[in-house]
Amino acid sequence: MRSVSERTKALKGSPIRRLVPLAVAARKRGIHVYHLNIGQPDIPTPESFMQGVRQAEIDVLCYAPASGIPETIQALLKFYADMGVEITENELRVTIGGSEAFAFALQTTCNPGDEVLIPEPFYPNYSGHALMNGIKVVPITTRIEDGFHLPPMEEIEKLITPKTAAILFSTPGNPTGVAYTREEMQAVGTLAKKHNLFVISDEPYRELMYEGHATSVLEIPGLEEHAILVDSISKRLSACGARIGCVVSRNQDVMTAINKLCMIRLSAPTFAQLGLANFLNDPNYKHDIENIRQKFHSRRDTLFEALQTIPGAVCRKPEGAFYIFVKLPQVDDSEEFVKFMLNEFNLDGETTMVAPGAGFYASPGVGHNEIRIAYVLEEAKLVRAVEVLKAGLEAYSTLREEVAATAG
Ligand SMILES: Cc1ncc(COP(=O)(O)O)c(C=O)c1O
Repeated sequence: MRSVSERTKALKGSPIRRLVPLAVAARKRGIHVYHLNIGQPDIPTPESFMQGVRQAEIDVLCYAPASGIPETIQALLKFYADMGVEITENELRVTIGGSEAFAFALQTTCNPGDEVLIPEPFYPNYSGHALMNGIKVVPITTRIEDGFHLPPMEEIEKLITPKTAAILFSTPGNPTGVAYTREEMQAVGTLAKKHNLFVISDEPYRELMYEGHATSVLEIPGLEEHAILVDSISKRLSACGARIGCVVSRNQDVMTAINKLCMIRLSAPTFAQLGLANFLNDPNYKHDIENIRQKFHSRRDTLFEALQTIPGAVCRKPEGAFYIFVKLPQVDDSEEFVKFMLNEFNLDGETTMVAPGAGFYASPGVGHNEIRIAYVLEEAKLVRAVEVLKAGLEAYSTLREEVAATAG
């Protein structure tokens, strides 16, 4: 039989989804699973978005224009203007989620064999798309002790080679909740200008901030030729299934290239674009986003407090997004621990699923004692999920001591 491609063979399953079959099996055994492994919020999508979908009168569900439905593009331009950023329709393309936007950004800025700098831990699909496009990921390691902020620019500069084409990051970030300060964004911009690099800033969580303001790459002056914004409505509108995002750049060569990529994938979903236009044209849209932000803010505080009850757990209060990265001293292989929680453990018929940390790093051997928790459930459920996690950690430690004693 002819083999499938080497690239797809090398692709690692997502650390977020790979262990889901174990959760399905646990549920079949009657165990309730708290799903804190995936960034899928439980908050209802705003009514005006859903109304826009319901009231769409369509006779023929035809392809939408490749770069987006004009009404949706206009609504998005107003959304950025409301944020204080003036862009024109030549500078924005509607995409199939932020996922397609960052895939387009990578394909547009990097040739096969080029390198992209990414602060780690990072959203694992970045490395999946880099691999599919023959691009090498060069990690910039960040540390929990620094709240996952960037190391000094001189450290990053040492990683730049003639093959470096771009720096890619999410801010506020998945999986750590770090939001780069204006100074950090400016410093990255200065570095990018000095070495002629693209800056791909993935900002689907920009409105979900709990400490201060999330600086967008579009707010940094002088980066017109370098900056590419990747954006998405999945998180801020709790509309992951809409599959709508966009890519914004003032660099016309970039936009021309992305336009061609849009054409070869035909179009983004029509109903969801109409829903988004209706949402953004509602004078109250900011209020809906603010409601979602406030929910996550309370959840962050509740979860952070609950995590303090776990002996030895190290974590920093996330500044934005809805994830927290936690170091667990009791665990040296968090994937094994997640499997234990799903296969072997329950507390009164309940268990908690989190994402193992190593899959968020490109550097080998890092993150094995870390996990990512997504605070996508109501507060009472988060508190209970942490109770279950804590009991699971105790049971895991006891089991490991017993195994070690037997082996000894
Ligand atoms: C940082 C980041 N970028 C992009 C995405 C993908 O989002 P979308 O649903 O818009 O494709 C996610 C999803 O979790 C994410 O966390």
